[in-house]
Amino acid sequence: MQGLFISVEGIDGVGKSTHVKFIETYMQEQGFKTITTREPGGTELGEKFRALLLSNKSHMHRITELLLMFASRQELIANVIEPNLKQGVCVISDRYIDASIAYQGLGRKIGVDKLNSIISLLEPLLIPDLTLLFDAPVDLTFSRVGRHSEKDRIEQEDKSFFLDVQQAYYTIAKNEEHRVKIIRTDQHKEQTRMIIKKHLDNLIATKKVNS
Ligand code: TYD
Repeated sequence: MQGLFISVEGIDGVGKSTHVKFIETYMQEQGFKTITTREPGGTELGEKFRALLLSNKSHMHRITELLLMFASRQELIANVIEPNLKQGVCVISDRYIDASIAYQGLGRKIGVDKLNSIISLLEPLLIPDLTLLFDAPVDLTFSRVGRHSEKDRIEQEDKSFFLDVQQAYYTIAKNEEHRVKIIRTDQHKEQTRMIIKKHLDNLIATKKVNS
């Protein structure tokens, strides 16, 4: 039986990482074997691309950035996502294709048409069963990132960049309501967790119906 594929998205500083851990634990409690990975990265080669992509010492064209994101993604699909899904493992990915649409497509203004052509190159093109899009006001996320000791290359961008990325995520969520669920993180953590659980329970129920 094919495993479940969950991706997690959101602008920098939204507090995604703690929730990824929670999702993993909850799915395990529900009896699923899980693997958690991240983008860019998640494979030996992908982590090298990540280092290049996020280093403040790197200077690259926006298309180079896009191609490296997808090079990392192809490695992750071939070596981690596809084989684990085939074995029935629940794959949780901290970011996936939606991040490229939001950050490179709209944030860097490359455009969705070019994005679509590169998405079509992925082998195989796997779409998550559920995407949890964490969201909070950019004023809040921006000040959170600002408190880091050192911002990475992408976190260096200004507030308007993140407003564009956030809008892009909203558009994706609107166009794919069945897959993408927006979860606010500017509320009590327990409240956020209740909503995450609700979406995961729905996903598990759908899986049972279809299997
Ligand atoms: P992030 O996932 O936020 O990791 P951390 O929490 O460790 O900072 O960092 C990845 C960065 O890469 C983030 O700024 C978003 C960016 N990114 C893209 O611009 N495009 C992509 O396709 C992906 C996967 C990430």
